[in-house]
Amino acid sequence: MNTNTKMDVTIVGGGMITEMQILPSVYQLQRMGTVNDISICALNAPPLEKIVKNETLHRAFPGQTFKPYPDFHQVSAKENFPDLYQEVVSSMKPRNIVMIALPDQMHYNSVLYALEHDQHILSVKPLTLNYNQAHEIERLAFERGLFVGVEYHKRFDDRVGMARMKYRAGDFGEFRVGMATLIEPWYYRDSNFQNWCTTENSDMFTYIGCHYVDQVHMITGLLPARVSVYGSVETYPNGNKGYLWTTGRVIWENGACLTVINGMGYPNVGPGGNSQGIWLFTQGEKDGGLLFHDDQYRGIKHSYIRKGNDPGESFYNEPSPDYFKLIERGGDGLTPVGYGYRSIEAIVNAIGRVENYGGDDLEKRQEMIKTIDGEGIIATPANSSFNELVIEAGRMSILNDGRDVVIEYGENPHVHF
Ligand SMILES: NC(=O)c1ccc[n+]([C@@H]2O[C@H](COP(=O)([O-])OP(=O)(O)OC[C@H]3O[C@@H](n4cnc5c(N)ncnc54)[C@H](O)[C@@H]3O)[C@@H](O)[C@H]2O)c1
Repeated sequence: MNTNTKMDVTIVGGGMITEMQILPSVYQLQRMGTVNDISICALNAPPLEKIVKNETLHRAFPGQTFKPYPDFHQVSAKENFPDLYQEVVSSMKPRNIVMIALPDQMHYNSVLYALEHDQHILSVKPLTLNYNQAHEIERLAFERGLFVGVEYHKRFDDRVGMARMKYRAGDFGEFRVGMATLIEPWYYRDSNFQNWCTTENSDMFTYIGCHYVDQVHMITGLLPARVSVYGSVETYPNGNKGYLWTTGRVIWENGACLTVINGMGYPNVGPGGNSQGIWLFTQGEKDGGLLFHDDQYRGIKHSYIRKGNDPGESFYNEPSPDYFKLIERGGDGLTPVGYGYRSIEAIVNAIGRVENYGGDDLEKRQEMIKTIDGEGIIATPANSSFNELVIEAGRMSILNDGRDVVIEYGENPHVHF
C-alpha cells in the first residue's frame, strides 16, 4: 500500500453497500496497516446494530470493530440523527478519509460538507444527480488539494481492463451498437430502497444503469451525446412509487448507440445475485467485431442440499466469484477478493499517493490529483462528469416520458431537450 501514515476512515451510511462491500474492504485495509480507526454513521441505530452482529464479518475479521454513530447501546431504535454525521466528520483530523454511502440524492451535500472539513473522499456512484454539483465538488476539492474518487467498481473488473486495452489498441475497431442489462433482485423492493429510490429522487437507470454507461466510456473513451429514458412506474410494498423498470438509449459522440435495460425484478428464485452483462458490436474496414460479457453467469454452477432463508437464497446457484467474496487465504479470518475490494483499495491508494507525494504542499497534492485524473482509471469529478450529465439528462427524460435530451460539452456543459 502507498500511505506512509495510517488514515482514519468515517463511513457515512450504514446500509447494504457498507455492510457487504465497503466495511469489509476497509477492515482488510486496516488489517494491512493502511487504515487506522473506523467510524460508521447511519440515520439511526438499527442498521449499525445489524452490522455489529454480522457473523460473517466476525469470522472474517476477528477482533476488528468500528465506532457506531449513533451508539445503539445508548439510543432508542426509533430515534433519527440526520445531522450526527456532520459532528463526526467535523471532529476528524484534517486530510483523512470520508466514505459516502448515503442514498443517491444525499451525496452532494455530504461530499461538500466533508470537503469543507478537509477530508479526502470516496463516494459511491453516482457522485451527484447533476453536472453543476459535480463541477462544484471538483473545484472545491482541487482548491484544497483533496482527492475525490467515485466508486464505479466495475472499472476494476479485470475483463473491463482487458477490453479497454484491446479497444484502445484498435483491435475491436469502432463501437457501433450495443446493449447492456442490469436487473437487480425483486426482493430489493422490500428493503430501504422503497424509502428513497422513488420517482422524485431516482430511478433504475440512474441507480444502476450508470455502471454500463461508465463502462462503455472506460473501454472506448467515447463520450455520451444524447440520452432518452423510458420508465414504468410501479408501487413498492409501502405504497411509494418508483421507476422500477427502465430502458435507456444513449447515443455516443461517434453516432454509436447503447440500449441500457434496468429493473428491480430479477427473480428471487433465480440462481444469480442479479442479471447483468453487455454486448458491444464494433466494426473495422472489412469486418465487424464484438465484445460480449456475461457478468452474471461466470461459469460456476452449484446445487446445494440445504439453504438459508434470506431473500434470494436458492438451492441451485450460479455465484459470481468476481465481485466480492470473503475466502480463506491463510492467516486469521477471511480475505476479501474481487473487483469490489480492488476498487476501494485503489481509491484509498490514490489518496495515499496524493498525501505521500504532496504532504502539506498544496501544489504538489494538486499535481498528483491531476496525474490520477489523467490516468482515467479511477473515476474522479474531473474525468467522469459525463456520468453526471447522463444522469441529469436521464432524469429529465424519464420525467418527460422518454423525450430525447442532448448533452452539450465545452465551456459550459449542460443538457437540454
Ligand atoms: N453497485 C453499486 O455501485 C452500488 C450498489 C449498492 C448501492 N450503491 C449506492 O450506495 C448508496 C447507498 O446504497 P445502499 O444500498 O447502501 O442503501 P441503503 O438504503 O441500504 O442504505 C442507506 C443508508 O444511509 C443511511 N442514512 C440516511 N440518511 C442518513 C443521514 N442523514 N446520516 C447518516 N446516515 C444516513 C441509512 O441509515 C442507511 O444506513 C446509494 O447511493 C447507492 O446508489 C451502489
